[in-house]
Amino acid sequence: MQYLGALLPRITRLQALVIGLAVTPLLLGGAGVIALLLFLMASGGTVTGAPEQPIAFDHSVHAGEAAIPCQFCHRGVVTEASATIPSVQQCMFCHGVVATDRPQIQLLQAHWETNTPVDWTRVHRVPDHVRFVHAPHIQAGLDCATCHGDVASMSEVRQVRSLSMGDCQGCHRENSASLDCATCHK
Ligand code: HEC
Ligand code: HEC
Ligand code: HEC
Ligand code: HEC
Ligand code: HEC
Repeated sequence: MQYLGALLPRITRLQALVIGLAVTPLLLGGAGVIALLLFLMASGGTVTGAPEQPIAFDHSVHAGEAAIPCQFCHRGVVTEASATIPSVQQCMFCHGVVATDRPQIQLLQAHWETNTPVDWTRVHRVPDHVRFVHAPHIQAGLDCATCHGDVASMSEVRQVRSLSMGDCQGCHRENSASLDCATCHK
């Protein structure tokens, strides 16, 4: 021990206290980051930030302020597997006349004139081996917000629920819906 002591730098108690105070928050900070990572892993880790979109489409303006019903744009949602994203033509229903002087609308009009779809970035996406169908969920009376959160108040859509296998199964169990592997796996 004496040899070890000789190797260590000599510091006063005050210096030790100062170093201790400086280092402790760093260690605690590290623990905080690890705890957050563990939490994200445990909760499925799929809850994401909003991806950037090619046109700054804002749900809080359309579904919020203008109160356009979700199904006006997402036409497949009640009867099909896919909710569907509206075509440029559906946007032009209004933007042929609404806000035509704004740069983002002129971008939209360029798509219309060149007949090119907008390449929206997907926010929610289950893996290829999973089958998700909107229709039975909406027909069972579930609100969009149950799975997607309050989209009408979002400027940019982000995923707020994990929608992992455990999450799907949990709700199916509560609602006596099928827990058969083949229900959700192709
Ligand atoms: C005026 C048309 C319009 C209306 C009304 C509308 N949406 Fe959308 N929605 C879009 C467009 C365009 C996108 C693709 C761009 C984006 O993600 O913001 C989208 C994307 C989404 C997404 C993300 C899709 C993905 O990639 O995972 C969800 C969820 C969604 N909408 C839910 C809703 C809900 C719920 C409502 C009603 C409260 C609603 N939308 C009303 C046009 C609309
Ligand atoms: C039912 C009518 C309607 C439809 C359909 C519609 N919008 Fe709009 N949009 C509006 C209204 C109203 C505003 C607000 C205009 C204002 O600020 O004066 C708006 C605003 C916008 C803006 C913001 C413009 C700016 O810079 O201030 C963008 C971008 C936009 N819409 C894109 C879209 C896209 C993309 C679609 C198709 C997916 C779409 N809209 C479909 C009515 C509509
Ligand atoms: C039970 C949960 C659940 C409910 C309720 C739900 N969704 Fe979804 N939604 C999902 C999942 C999961 C995905 C990803 C599907 C995939 O990757 O195929 C998705 C994807 C989407 C998409 C993008 C892909 C597509 O299907 O076109 C849109 C848009 C959407 N939902 C809109 C809505 C709207 C609007 C409502 C309400 C009328 C709604 N959803 C209700 C779980 C739900
Ligand atoms: C918030 C509750 C809830 C969540 C979350 C949920 N489901 Fe469902 N699911 C239901 C209900 C309720 C039904 C309708 C059951 C019925 O009609 O008997 C259903 C039905 C289904 C069906 C159709 C079953 C059939 O018999 O045709 C499939 C497929 C399905 N869900 C897949 C999924 C997948 C995959 C996920 C996760 C990505 C998911 N669900 C998340 C509640 C939920
Ligand atoms: C209610 C819907 C649902 C049911 C029922 C279900 N799964 Fe899944 N499963 C999912 C979803 C959604 C995913 C993808 C998300 C994830 O990995 O959590 C998935 C992912 C998986 C994976 C891949 C995991 C990975 O790490 O990539 C396997 C393997 C799997 N499921 C097996 C099963 C088996 C076996 C059963 C029957 C006992 C079953 N699932 C029942 C929804 C379901």
